[in-house]
Amino acid sequence: MVSESSNQWTHRSVLADEAPDALVVNPDGIYVDATFGRGGHSRRILAKLSERGRLIAFDRDLQAIEASKSIQDPRFTIIHSAFSNMAQELARIGVHRVDGILMDIGVSSPQIDDVSRGFSFRGDGPLDMRMDTSSGFTAAQWLASASEVEIARVLKDYGEERFARQIARLLVQTRQNEPIERTGQLAELIARAIPRNKQDPKQNPATRSFQAIRILVNGELDELTSALSQAGGLLNPDARLVVISFHSLEDRLVKRFFDAGAHPERGIDSRIALRTSDLPAPWWKDVVRVKPDAKECDENARSRSAVMRYGARTDRPWSEEAGGS
Ligand SMILES: C[S@@+](CC[C@H](N)C(=O)[O-])C[C@H]1O[C@@H](n2cnc3c(N)ncnc32)[C@H](O)[C@@H]1O
Repeated sequence: MVSESSNQWTHRSVLADEAPDALVVNPDGIYVDATFGRGGHSRRILAKLSERGRLIAFDRDLQAIEASKSIQDPRFTIIHSAFSNMAQELARIGVHRVDGILMDIGVSSPQIDDVSRGFSFRGDGPLDMRMDTSSGFTAAQWLASASEVEIARVLKDYGEERFARQIARLLVQTRQNEPIERTGQLAELIARAIPRNKQDPKQNPATRSFQAIRILVNGELDELTSALSQAGGLLNPDARLVVISFHSLEDRLVKRFFDAGAHPERGIDSRIALRTSDLPAPWWKDVVRVKPDAKECDENARSRSAVMRYGARTDRPWSEEAGGS
């Protein structure tokens, strides 16, 4: 496993060898690492490319962009942007087709470990949670203005939190007297709202709510949906899209996306009799699912929830109906 450091924080890449191995099918090609992080995967991809190959990386986090400066390689370009702008940003530098795209989505370890980023319920920091601190609204700003119904919906939909309504009620009551601006304060309120006998002793009671608010603040599911569809339009025939996700909401999106594009016939009314020659051609082929092995899960707890899915583009021209989600 690769461990990359920037200042005092490190990120251990999940499926550090498996993801670049799945991605690079042509060493002379142009590749995209949509989630640079600390560059563990990027460095591995560069090691697999020839002198003619090229890697363009994205990250929306300014600390990740800073860390990327340690890669001094003429084949490497970094872009500070959300990956939902991928097609537009690539077009801006004259790239319209690529030979592989990797997305290792979610948060990096430095984002979690640095309490001043506001992602973690361990320790106490400002309630920020933005991956890109140069734009958007913070978790504290959202909690100050969202309605009780909206807070409950987000906790339920993005955190699968059973006690969403109880938590939302306590947060709205509390903010009438004091603003909710610290991670420690929010974690304490959530623990208070969930009945003690219903709490899972193995999991911090704030886990699901923090995940939900983070997904909302960073628009993570919309980002993923948009980037998957753009990837389909950017990849050359036989080029691969490799996606590593860390929770079931993301993995469900990725699975449905590949399923819909690999089996477009499933969208046709089964009462309509079709000859084999009339079946619609797929947009994806050779779709594979990979989980980290037991050794990696022992060495890196973060990898336990990871699922990697990848597939190769066929030569059927991309269309919006292949989006699948
Ligand atoms: C799991 S880490 C990637 C780690 C990286 N593969 C490595 O080996 O170091 C996820 C990274 O993706 C970035 N990220 C997440 N969502 C993003 C988005 N929508 N657009 C751009 N970057 C994003 C985060 O800021 C974070 O740095």
